[in-house]
Amino acid sequence: MAAGADAIIAEREGELTREQMIPLLQEIQAAEGFLSAEAMITVADALETPVSRVYGVATFYNQFRFAPVGEHVIEVCRGTACHVKQSLALAQHLERRLHLRDDGNSADGRYTVVRVACLGACSIAPVIKLDGAFYGHLTTEKLDALLDELEADGDAAKPDAFPSAARAPEEQRDEAA
Ligand code: FES
Repeated sequence: MAAGADAIIAEREGELTREQMIPLLQEIQAAEGFLSAEAMITVADALETPVSRVYGVATFYNQFRFAPVGEHVIEVCRGTACHVKQSLALAQHLERRLHLRDDGNSADGRYTVVRVACLGACSIAPVIKLDGAFYGHLTTEKLDALLDELEADGDAAKPDAFPSAARAPEEQRDEAA
């Protein structure tokens, strides 16, 4: 069966209730990468509720996206420890450098930037995650170097290339023990 809202809902036919709206939206987003207007209409029909209600719920939570994600996803931590260490400057630098649109995607569609709460790596603040890898102790200069390498390689920069900036939180905890 094909992935997508129709298939996900078909699997639960006769079992769906309105209380399941959020897990349903999460599952559809996981399958499709974002919530399309069509997906929200499908959910509304399945739950016999207005589309405006589905849209209202989806837009209330910042975990949901309404546009396809880019080739590279950058999560900028805006938790307290990172805020104190100037993470706002990193976020603003990315906005300028990548010409981010309101949906967080770069003008060329290659990058998606999202601001997130604590990534659980406060000891290396300020932190970003790039395609799932942690980069800490960042400055705008290190961020530029990381993006330059990404552009040059056409692939994700390797954390090893940034010894002071790429430490998984697990490693930090191990060292502190
Ligand atoms: S506040 Fe950024 S990792 Fe905790």
